[in-house]
Amino acid sequence: MSGFYLHIPFCQRKCDYCDFYSLPLENDIELQRYVELLLREIDLLAKRWAMRGPLETVFFGGGTPSLLSAEQVDSILCQLDARFGIASRCEISLEANPGTVTAEKLRGYCRVGVNRLSLGVQTLNDVQLRLLGRIHSAAEAKQAVAMARQAGFTNLNLDLIFALPEQTLPQLEQDVAELLKLQPEHLSLYGLSFEPRTPLAKRQSLGQLTEPDEQFYVDSYLLIDRLLTAAGFEHYEISNFARPGFRCRHNQAYWRRQTCLAAGCGAHSFFSNGWGERWMVDTSLPNYCERLEHLELPMERLEDFDRQTAMAETVYLALRMVDGLSRTDFQRQFGVYPEAAFPTAFRRHGERLTLQDDRWCFDLQGWLLYDHLISDFL
Ligand SMILES: C[S@@+](CC[C@H](N)C(=O)[O-])C[C@H]1O[C@@H](n2cnc3c(N)ncnc32)[C@H](O)[C@@H]1O
Ligand code: SF4
Repeated sequence: MSGFYLHIPFCQRKCDYCDFYSLPLENDIELQRYVELLLREIDLLAKRWAMRGPLETVFFGGGTPSLLSAEQVDSILCQLDARFGIASRCEISLEANPGTVTAEKLRGYCRVGVNRLSLGVQTLNDVQLRLLGRIHSAAEAKQAVAMARQAGFTNLNLDLIFALPEQTLPQLEQDVAELLKLQPEHLSLYGLSFEPRTPLAKRQSLGQLTEPDEQFYVDSYLLIDRLLTAAGFEHYEISNFARPGFRCRHNQAYWRRQTCLAAGCGAHSFFSNGWGERWMVDTSLPNYCERLEHLELPMERLEDFDRQTAMAETVYLALRMVDGLSRTDFQRQFGVYPEAAFPTAFRRHGERLTLQDDRWCFDLQGWLLYDHLISDFL
């Protein structure tokens, strides 16, 4: 088995732009109860699926997993080890909001085995941080990075959001330059999306702020690519950059459709048996808790892939990566080459696709137009 994802659906406070499934945390008792239910869920999962590890990757995502204490993280890792086994070289990632960490907590995470920390820096501009409704300042984000290094983390990801309201290209360049000074091993960069029903979208609809236009998004994406590749990063996935040897193994397994179990309210599991199955954990926190209290595994089958949908998803995920889509692997799995499976899409988008040895890849323009181009494969 490949990986294990744990969803922690709590945040100290919701940010104004975010529609990820998470709730403001009421108190520490609520969090401890959730951890105890997660331990129970892991136990039930191991019995239900009778799968054996050892796990190659573990990912604590959210919400804000850095609300957990080191002891709580330890109890979850011990349970995973007891039920599935954790490989000695396992990549163990944890997402942290810089406003929720202390030097002691970070040392604790390191001590219990977390070896990859992902800090939600978002921007190092205090005006923009306030606009996004973040709970921390730029100085606190920088301090979190310094504390993570002191705690012993040698694999740090920083998240950045670009295409912010009122942002200019020189401001973005400044943001990237400041981020690079922090010497991360990995960077994830997302254009701000105005999600319906968020406070940010509401302010936009009232005309209090404007969404940057498409050209600004394109210019920002190309600028980021140029600055980070010049600084020695590999642009290995649409939104992800890594120094050599520091790609995120957990996410790569996801993009390669390898089995990944998941626990926690709203989390998704993927099983690679047959053409693939996707399962989803109950998205209502009260239901999730109640079902586990009754020793019921709170998960339902979301999608059962057939050959056609498995082919489409394979292409959709593989073309996000710089490694692209291997013709030979695709033919071995599906008995047909990708060009024969999707003749119209390949004819339409031939100029954005290149064949490097055995692999079809999008160029940078292809990634920019990804949602549009890939729809012909789906
Ligand atoms: C689970 S959060 C990261 C950890 C932690 N919750 C935090 O925010 O510091 C995952 C990432 O999704 C990105 N994100 C969330 N909502 C977004 C939006 N509307 N537009 C762009 N990026 C978004 C942010 O970069 C965020 O860091
Ligand atoms: S961006 Fe992170 S901290 Fe903010 S609400 Fe979303 S998950 Fe929570």
